[in-house]
Amino acid sequence: MARVLLAVGGGAAAIKAPLVVRRLREAGFAVRTLATERALAFTTELALATVSGHPVATEAAWFSPSGRVLHLELARWADLLLVAPATAADLARAAAGLAEDLLSAVITAGVPRVVWAPAMNPGMWADPAVQANVDRLRSRGHAFAGPASGPMAGVGETPGTGRMLEPDELAEHVRYHLTTKDFAGKRVLVTAGPTREHLDPVRFLSNPSSGKMGFALARAARDRGARVTLVTGPTVLPDPFGVEVVRVESAEAMRQAVVDRFSEVDLVIMAAAVADWRPAERKAEKEAKLGEEKLLRLVRTPDILAELGAAKGSRVLVGFAMETHAGPERALEKLKRKNLDLICLNYPTDPETAFGADENRLVVIEPSGRTEAWGKASKRELADRLLDRVRHIMQ
Ligand code: C5P
Repeated sequence: MARVLLAVGGGAAAIKAPLVVRRLREAGFAVRTLATERALAFTTELALATVSGHPVATEAAWFSPSGRVLHLELARWADLLLVAPATAADLARAAAGLAEDLLSAVITAGVPRVVWAPAMNPGMWADPAVQANVDRLRSRGHAFAGPASGPMAGVGETPGTGRMLEPDELAEHVRYHLTTKDFAGKRVLVTAGPTREHLDPVRFLSNPSSGKMGFALARAARDRGARVTLVTGPTVLPDPFGVEVVRVESAEAMRQAVVDRFSEVDLVIMAAAVADWRPAERKAEKEAKLGEEKLLRLVRTPDILAELGAAKGSRVLVGFAMETHAGPERALEKLKRKNLDLICLNYPTDPETAFGADENRLVVIEPSGRTEAWGKASKRELADRLLDRVRHIMQ
């Protein structure tokens, strides 16, 4: 279990620090906390100790006659130090190598990785002195998560760049920095979500795919060092950081986005639930609902994966198959017809792992017909497991 030291600086975003601890723990990290003196004006020692399950490292604890050398102990314990929120003063002390408070002493003592999550007013963030400190820290290998743009603390302040990332985004950054880069140098294209095939400007044929499986795959590949492009149909999911996201609507638009990039990638995982049919014609205006019946003529959409399979070369291709019956036989037939290296079968009618769920169950089938059933797990866990399999095929 990787060990994360969360240092909480003295900004208004410190009110979110207990939630950052919770998200880090949910992501599977052991977490300890450090709070600067000013952080404790915004959040409390009791809250941080309760959610982390450990005493909080404070200025008072540092100078208590306990016989422990707290800054050295913490620097040796942590695999990664996340400073969230980080104030301009925290950045300045670290950049200057001042070991005058516990946080800057821990950094000077040498933590293996430092990730800063700055939070300050946009004018302060843009200040040349602050930016010079950021550059100095970056040149020493420190990483930055954010800041984001959005509303600011302080009544009447105009929105701008300087907001701390949200707790779940911070946990995602920490995970990225602590993941072994076994896909370094690989270029990966993932598709996700449904497509929409319009009848007119406001009506379409689609399916309930949420995009969660494809997004989990894109994030997992990114964390493992791949350069990732995510081509996604309409979903409510936000763009993952560090991933090129291409948002499309129709199967034809998805095909174009995928085909345009195919020559540059080593691996394609088609997790999108591409519509198989589209209305033969798309009306330019919304049609009035006249009459009691209406016949709709449908035509096939392009089979993107079959087209990629025909031009595969040395690339690895992974497909998904959604079946309500005769799953393995039909999935193996698809794998062969589309020239795939693996196909993952899932069952959308299973209530526990239906469309939109955070968990899934996969049956993974190889060209030889060898089949493995992976029990219910989070989509992220399944994504990593699938990438483990793909890595062996790619070597
Ligand atoms: O043929 P079927 O739709 O069941 O195959 C599923 C796989 O093929 C999925 O990986 C899906 O993303 C892909 N597919 C595609 N183009 C289509 C339909 C499906 O690439 N028009």
